[in-house]
Parts: sequence; C-alpha cells; structure tokens
Amino acid sequence: MCGIVGYVGAKAATPVLVEGLHRLEYRGYDSAGVAVVRRGRIAVTKAAGRVQELRDRLAESAPNAATIGIAHTRWATHGEPSDRNAHPHLDADGRIAVVHNGIIENAEQLRARLAAEGVALVSETDTEALAHLIAAEIETGSLEDAVRSALRHVEGTYGLVVLDRTRPDELVVARNGSPIVLGIGDGEMFVASDVAALVHHTQRVVFLDDGELATVRAGDYRTSTLEARRTSKQPTTVDLAADDYELGGHPDFMRKEMAEQPEAVARALRGRLDERFATAHLGGLGLDPMALRAVRRVKFLGCGSAYYAGQMGATLVEELARIPADAEPASEFRYRNPVVDPDALYVAISQSGETLDTLAAVQELRRKGGRVIGAVNVVGSAIARECGSGVFLHAGPEVSVASTKALTNMTVSFAMLGLLLGRVRDLSAASGQRIVSGLRALPAQIEEILTEDARVQQVAKRHAHARHMFFLGRVRGWPVAREGAQKLKEISYVHAEAYQSAELKHGPLALIDADMPSVVVVPHDELLAKNIGTMEQIRARGGPVIAVTNAEIPEGLADEVIRVPRGEPELDPILLTIPLQLLAYHIAAELGRDIDKPRNLAKSVTVE
Ligand code: F6R
Repeated sequence: MCGIVGYVGAKAATPVLVEGLHRLEYRGYDSAGVAVVRRGRIAVTKAAGRVQELRDRLAESAPNAATIGIAHTRWATHGEPSDRNAHPHLDADGRIAVVHNGIIENAEQLRARLAAEGVALVSETDTEALAHLIAAEIETGSLEDAVRSALRHVEGTYGLVVLDRTRPDELVVARNGSPIVLGIGDGEMFVASDVAALVHHTQRVVFLDDGELATVRAGDYRTSTLEARRTSKQPTTVDLAADDYELGGHPDFMRKEMAEQPEAVARALRGRLDERFATAHLGGLGLDPMALRAVRRVKFLGCGSAYYAGQMGATLVEELARIPADAEPASEFRYRNPVVDPDALYVAISQSGETLDTLAAVQELRRKGGRVIGAVNVVGSAIARECGSGVFLHAGPEVSVASTKALTNMTVSFAMLGLLLGRVRDLSAASGQRIVSGLRALPAQIEEILTEDARVQQVAKRHAHARHMFFLGRVRGWPVAREGAQKLKEISYVHAEAYQSAELKHGPLALIDADMPSVVVVPHDELLAKNIGTMEQIRARGGPVIAVTNAEIPEGLADEVIRVPRGEPELDPILLTIPLQLLAYHIAAELGRDIDKPRNLAKSVTVE
C-alpha cells in the first residue's frame, strides 16, 4: 500500500529518502512527499503523481544538507490524490511532521474535535489529525511521550514516523497493524514500511511489533510499548540483497519474476522432499504425524490470486489426502460469523503477509480457537507472525503488483502439504513417490514453458484488441482459469470472466460470438473429452478458442494451441497457470499498459 521511509545520520537525507520511496513505489503511487529539518524549520516538498514528479520538484530547488527526514508515497484512501493530501502532514505551527500508513477509524471525530478547538485542517486526510494531536501533547515531555499520548485517542491502524523540528536528531515511529522496520547502519539509522527500502543500506533490521514505539537516533534506538514499558529488540539479518530489487536487464519486474519461477520453485522444494518415505517435510508447520492425522478438514483463506492459489491447494489436498478441503476469500470470512471447526486446519495465504483482510481472518480464527498456519512469502510480516507456524514460500521478493512467482510457490507448497497429509493417511508410497518425482520435475518444465514465450506473444498480438474474454476450466482447470482471468484484468484492463466450463450452457454461452475469445484450460486428465466438448460448443457458435493444454486435442478444434509439458495430473494446475501469465503479460504489453504498476492497484492491501 503506501510506503514510508525515514533517515537520521550524517548523509544528506533527501536523496536517501527519495531513493527509498522509489523502491517502495510498487506499494502505492499516486502522490509522494518528503520533510526534512533545515535551519530549525521543517521543509516539506510534495507532488501528486509518481516519485519522479517529486524528484523533479525537488530538483527545482537548491540541494540541502539536512541530515534527518521522513518521506511517503501514497495510495489514496481518505481524500483524492493531490499535493494537499500527500504526506507528510504538519501541525498548525509547522513543528511536527507525520507520515502514516493505515487508516485512523475515528478520524472524522478527531477532525471535528480539532476543528471545534479552532484548528484549521488543510487536507482531507486522517493523518493530518495525528500531527495536530501530537503537537498538542508535545509541551509536556519527550516526543515519544507526546506520540504515545496522542495515540491513546486514536482508533485504527498505523505505521507512522514523526519528526519534530526542535529535535533534529531523532525520529519517533509507532506501529499498529501497518509494518515498520528499523534499519541499522553505521552511525546512521533508517526506518521504512518495507525492507525493500533498506537493503541497499543495511541488512540488519528490527521489526516493530503492533503496539510498539521506538525513538531512533543516528547511533541507537530504544523501543517501548504504548503503555511505556521498555522492550528489548535484537536486530536480525535479512537474507535479501539489493539485487533482488533490481530489474537485472529485464524490462519490468513482472517479466523478471516470471523468469525467476524455475529457481523460485527449486528453492521452495529444497530440503523438503523425501524420496525414502515418499513424503514432504514441512517442519515449520509444527505438526507431528498424530496432529496431522487428526486434521479432519483443510480450509484455505486468501485474497485475489492468493485465494485462487488456495482453491488449487484445496483440490490438491482433497485429491492427495482424501480429506475435505475448500478455499474462501479471506476478505469475506470475518463478516459472516464463521463456524470455526476445532478439527480443521486453516491456511492463511499471503505473498506480502500484510493483507489486512487476511490478517483479520487469522485474528478471527485465533479468537475462536481455530488452528491456523500461514503460507507466506515475507518473513517477519504481520500474518507470518500472527500465525506463528506455517510454510514460507521462498519465492524471493516480489515487486510487480501482479503476483506470479509467489502464486506458483503457493501452489507448490500446497502440493507438498497435500502429499504430507496424504502420506499419514492412505496415499500409497508409490503414489507419494510419483508426486515427489512430479514436484522435482517442475523447475525444468516451467523453464520449458517459458521458452514458448514468443509463441504466446503471437497469440496475444492476435487477440489483444478483444474487449472481453472468457477463461474456462473444470475441476483442476477451474482455479487456473480464474487466476488467468484475474491476471489479464489487472494488468491489461481487458474484461475477462472465468467460468466453470459446464456452467457455460447455463447462461454465458449467449455471449459467445466472433468477438469473444475463450481461453480454455485443458489438462490431460479424465475430463479431456468433456473439455473437447466445451471447445466444440464454442466453435459451433463462432467463438475463437485458445486452448492451453498438455493433451492431444483434435486438429482444427482450437484457433490457437499453447502447449505445456505433461507431468503428474494432480500438479497440472501449476504448469497450466504459467502460459496464462505470459498471455496476460503480452496482451498488456501490446496495449501499452504500465505492467508493474496497473492503475488503481497496490501490491499489498493494508486497508479494508
Ligand atoms: C494479483 C494480486 C492480488 C494479490 C492479493 C493478495 O496478481 O497480486 O490479487 O494476490 O491482493 O495479496 P497477498 O498475497 O500479498 O496477501
């Protein structure tokens, strides 16, 4: 969502801050701003639009030597994207500057109260109220105490950084529901909402917990709780390098991340497959064979693509372990007063580990005594920490808004979970061995699919100007179709709708004509004849057919055939998803879209 950076040290702060914002831009990008302390005053520069606009605006004024500052890139929630609503926000005297991620739920009441006290609010944001509240408390003690007192009036979520012009050697940060991480340098300190902004400077970091504050100076930091109890936080070293966030010769991050999939899958499998016992080891689950056997049901929860990965996971678990499994959008879960089954295993799926809806589902589950594990990419993220156990995806940093390699690693992880749950039940050693071999073959098979890129690009060029597209699949192919439609919609803005193939005749068939291409997912499985029937129905009504398949299909049945290698049938969804990423990518490229930064979207959605 929004991105935060702060710096205190000996260097000129502005370039460090702007560079950090640039690295966070994928989280949200409709306006940006910086505040630094210079000659006892806070100087703020803001610009609506991308970080480049802010860079251009800063270039119009002389460089400054300020060595402390805060910065923000925003994705609007309260108030339209504009210079006025961009962060940092100041109090009336220009003493306090604040950048904030999250949502202050009682902002309207706080703003009304401030207005009644005669404070003139200049923006429409919830954050501005924080600056005034902190300023009102500042006379009494330290900046940290003022922030702590102000936060007592606040309901909602925040990751925030506060600057006081009278204390140009310290920043105060606080976290509740929106991540804040401190980066420890040599005589300098960084703060950010995401390690992506820090890894160029340091790999030694401290993740704040919810309800925690910190005072950060160039040479040290001190953490405490909202109740003013000191906490002791040791730095950890993040296993991420600056290169992980560079394009490395690729035109954009989506392309880079698609290309990284063979390596990412190999990483997810490393040390987890066991040929001898034909099973998988997922030590992070913290479940022994008895506990695994006691699982009566598995429910996957995630949002967007993570939900579709969950649907693929549910199919895998049912097939391999023969226990009931399903998936549900995490965004709906807490609102329907769910019946939580103590014998079920709940799996919270999230690339970022910060998606608010998924986090709230986990909290609801825990409150009701449900057993929930995480399937998370970002180590140290809120969902990973809230779950406490689970399976890390090891996809490496994902920067493109459209998720590719993380989604693939989710499904690979669920295949291992299905295998593990199956092998403590009735999945035979021979079948287990078949799945182990199938998993081992995936990196090379994905590599092979990626070499078909030029072919997919041709198909994309021929269909890029369709206004609408259907994505169709049945059983194993159905979540693949849903994910394919999602990828196309989000990066190309072409309207795409996914249907279960058999549902076509119950209504949507009426839409088929020469201008409505259908992408049909056709695995080589026992439903092949049915899928051939689907393609025939579409052809009979003059609809173009793009088949994505690892089966032999009759000559001339599909206008376009995109082939993937044949593996173990249960694992087909993993391979069949890859060409749909390429298809969406090339259609978006053909239409000239900004692939890594689709309009209206942000990488991690930390609001409702
Ligand atoms: C689609 C996409 C989104 C995310 C969803 C969940 O390409 O990226 O649909 O999958 O917002 O995000 P995470 O996995 O970070 O919880």
